Amino acid sequence: MSSLVDPHGGCGLVALLIPAAERPAELERARSMKKVHMTSREVSDVLMMAMGAYTPIDGFMDEGDWRGVCQAMKLVSGVFWPIPITLSCDQDRADGIDLEEEVALLDGESGEIIAMMEVTDKYTPDKTLECERIYKTTDPAHPGVEKVLQQGVVNLAGRVRCLSEGTYPDKYPGLYIRPARARAMFAENGWSRVAAFQTRNPMQRAHEHLVKIALEVTDGVFIHQVLGKLKPGDIPAQVRTEAIQAMIDHYFVAGTIIQAGYPIEMRYAGPREALLHALIRQNYGCSHLIVGRDHAGVGDYYGPFDAHHIFDTLWDGALVTRALKIDITFFCTACYGMATAKTCPHEDQQRIHISGTQQRDMLSRGADIPIEFSRPEVVKILRNYYSGNPEE
Ligand code: ADX
Repeated sequence: MSSLVDPHGGCGLVALLIPAAERPAELERARSMKKVHMTSREVSDVLMMAMGAYTPIDGFMDEGDWRGVCQAMKLVSGVFWPIPITLSCDQDRADGIDLEEEVALLDGESGEIIAMMEVTDKYTPDKTLECERIYKTTDPAHPGVEKVLQQGVVNLAGRVRCLSEGTYPDKYPGLYIRPARARAMFAENGWSRVAAFQTRNPMQRAHEHLVKIALEVTDGVFIHQVLGKLKPGDIPAQVRTEAIQAMIDHYFVAGTIIQAGYPIEMRYAGPREALLHALIRQNYGCSHLIVGRDHAGVGDYYGPFDAHHIFDTLWDGALVTRALKIDITFFCTACYGMATAKTCPHEDQQRIHISGTQQRDMLSRGADIPIEFSRPEVVKILRNYYSGNPEE
């Protein structure tokens, strides 16, 4: 019998999407409300709330929660939460909204009304504090910091009720698996110990090795990719999905992997984001999150194992889902196989390392990618993509 980890917060899944039958009337009401235009990141957060992936929060954070999360990774209720989930606007918009007023939240790009929120707090967050605590840097060149610095000066907070899941369910029908459905799928498979593999990349052999290590100690792996906006140069979701599917078809035992995607937008907050990734996977029913080298990092802002160490700083009961911490993985020509620094005694010259940038460059030049680095089925898919998009 399957017994999965409980959702975060101890009160079952909190999914904020209004039942379909009530949506048309609520949408009609929302049309007459004042409007707040959301950034793509804010939209992605609402979609996460809609499906229950952000259980137990029920809206955008007020000042108390924002501060508690920045300073102590805790909501006012005492529940663990590692990254602020906030909605911002400019001062004029905030001044025009009264407390207790309901507003319509629009996707700033498409203009679609995605949700409604009863505004219960308006506050000016200290962006420097947020960046220092969450991103460990205030450098505007960091893509997550850049977004915080660009957002409006006032945060609006309150309970959210969602009216739409945007275009994702139609665009990714097989991948858009909500937490309740994922839990049902794991249970149907008889899985109790499930590891999530968070990714925004097509699978190279290092990724394959991480997933296979996890399979040795769990019942199945949930390969869970980011469908929200990425930074320039990252591989688009369709290409990635195809590459991951090729790996599942050719290199994994049938029935041990479920591939899915979720609408989060990466913040590239390294260790703090690794914790959010684990919390989200707890809501999906995963007992473990694979955390490898520089998880959710960017550039050189974080040490390669900062995202491992931060799990050791949590208090008892903060999170049920555990990090499955794995060292840097590579192919060693002396071992003649995949290994990590824990299992391979050889020199660095015998280890094959190719960075994402190097690989992109090699693919766009038509150069050979060593079989020790990437499976040929994946190289073929990437080569097709890069030959059509040489500027990427
Ligand atoms: S991200 O969320 O961390 O940005 P990415 O696709 O780059 O996603 O990595 C997916 C997972 O694989 C992360 O846990 C990352 O730490 C791990 N990872 C990627 N490459 C390696 C590697 N060579 N060795 C160990 N872990 C790795």
